[in-house]
Amino acid sequence: MSDAQPRRPWIVGVSGASGTPYAAAALRGLLAAGESIDLMISRAARLTLLDETGIAFRDAHWRDDLAQWLGWHVDAEPQAPKWLDAVRYWPAGDLAAGPSSGSYPAKGMLVIPASTAAVAGVRLGLSKDLLQRAADVTLKERRPLVVVVRETPLNTQTLEHLLALSRAGAVVLPASPGFYAGARDVQRLVDFVAGKALDVLGVDHDLLRRWSGELGAAQ
Ligand SMILES: Cc1cc2nc3c(=O)[nH]c(=O)nc-3n(C[C@H](O)[C@H](O)[C@H](O)COP(=O)(O)O)c2cc1C
Repeated sequence: MSDAQPRRPWIVGVSGASGTPYAAAALRGLLAAGESIDLMISRAARLTLLDETGIAFRDAHWRDDLAQWLGWHVDAEPQAPKWLDAVRYWPAGDLAAGPSSGSYPAKGMLVIPASTAAVAGVRLGLSKDLLQRAADVTLKERRPLVVVVRETPLNTQTLEHLLALSRAGAVVLPASPGFYAGARDVQRLVDFVAGKALDVLGVDHDLLRRWSGELGAAQ
């Protein structure tokens, strides 16, 4: 028998809501913690990624594009090749991909950011792409599912979908940063949301400054 631990990744689904920096922060946090990741990026998320970062993400060159998105210059960042090896990338249209089956080993899933369309699709079990199917599988297998929804204001339908997802076992984590952790720059606010998501998954990180019980300590 082999002593090698079987790979058990976190599935990270990036859908087409604004907020690709949240996804980047969560990916960096998971990889820094030594976790494996199965990554999928919806078709609409390619548009938000292009809009927010200028990166036209390509399935065939995902390693290069991911490294650029996460701000890794492979030559300057010694950890980058190791971290990239911990990522498995699946095209969003690949419904035969591993994470579309409950028998595929996974720890759980993070949808970050989650569009209202993805929220609706997961709630209704539409499985219109790999992201929605993987989230549906995560729920049916009773694995942790964190949905970082990003929209404002929220209509009644979305609120009902979120309530149903919460009742089905998902954790609904709105992309709403807390300013008590120190809000000197935007990245801190982004990291706060990603850090809260990693807290739910039980992954150690140093993305956010925790409340100490002392007013003003973050200044
Ligand atoms: C630049 C841009 C920003 C968007 N921002 C949001 C957003 O913040 N929240 C949201 O729910 N949808 C947003 N959308 C709309 C979604 O992309 C759209 O509903 C899409 O169908 C989502 O598909 P997906 O869930 O498969 O990624 C945005 C679209 C674009 C092009």
